[in-house]
Amino acid sequence: MNANREAILAHLGNSTIPVSGHALAEKMGLSRTGIWKHIQALRKQGIDIESHAGRGYQLKSDVLNTSMFAGRLKTQRIGSHIVVLDETDSTNREVMRQAESGADEGLIVIADFQTQGRGRLGRSWHTAGHDSLAISILLRPNISPEQVPQLSLLTAVALQRALALHAPETRIKWPNDLLLHGAKIAGILTEMRAEPGQVHAVVLGIGLNVQKPANGWPKEITQKVTDLCSSSGKHVSRLTIASEIIQAIDDYYDMYIKHGFAPVRKLWWDAHAASGQLVRAHHGNDRDGGYVEGIAEALDEDGALLLRVGDKLQRFIAGDLELIDNASMDHASTDQPA
Ligand code: BTN
Repeated sequence: MNANREAILAHLGNSTIPVSGHALAEKMGLSRTGIWKHIQALRKQGIDIESHAGRGYQLKSDVLNTSMFAGRLKTQRIGSHIVVLDETDSTNREVMRQAESGADEGLIVIADFQTQGRGRLGRSWHTAGHDSLAISILLRPNISPEQVPQLSLLTAVALQRALALHAPETRIKWPNDLLLHGAKIAGILTEMRAEPGQVHAVVLGIGLNVQKPANGWPKEITQKVTDLCSSSGKHVSRLTIASEIIQAIDDYYDMYIKHGFAPVRKLWWDAHAASGQLVRAHHGNDRDGGYVEGIAEALDEDGALLLRVGDKLQRFIAGDLELIDNASMDHASTDQPA
């Protein structure tokens, strides 16, 4: 997009009240007519900008661009380079491609649409334009491949913190789903490139339902899902929540680098929907396959859930959790179907 138009969107996107043509013209060193022409061009691109007589322009579409993040983040390791795309196959794939070409830690890719968005356990993930957020972040931590699941748990803790600013009842469901009143609001897919003993790249992929699409959720989504705006009862822009998520991940990643996994593990356990409760842990992707029922007793160093089954503790490394002793959580099955 033309740099002036991107800058106008950044000014409008960072203001909750109309911005006058005069103020925009001054900030950007353009004439008011020049601003008006850019506004017209943006409208032609389908971006909804209202004119309020005597007050100025107000952005109504929930657009995102790189310039909008300027001055919003106080991060140390993440977000030095933010790429916002209209469409890609999968933001995780895009980040991995850039990682393979030598991109630095902290790269973020955000897209409105993903043609092949992916979820955990080989499932697909639907991304609904301005109604969703699809973010992927590149990390290059100095840890072993076995420790990488800790970063998924860290991301879940960060997402819970960011979402709880708007919807305080947000909880994590092992390993890293985010639930609100028993319905899924966000998911995390972590991928890595590694060789034994050495991690080259970790991609943290986050999918969040920001608003319910105007035409409702696609039919293929059969599970119980919710979105941030409906559940918090207020409009939260993608810019606001994306900035809060990125900031929270950066804060916890910094803590992890300095103090290891122990503080993250404690935060995760406190934010988990089923700590100390009866759960049904399904193996892998197969809801009709085997499962174990037990009390969720702890999270271990590797991110495995420890289930108390009778007088034994069983370690559960990968799969899907069902919460069975809390009616409001019932059938909060985790993922979107392929
Ligand atoms: C899950 O199954 O719960 C995880 C969903 C993760 C979806 C996100 S959207 C951004 C990133 N790109 C992808 O293709 N997947 C992740």
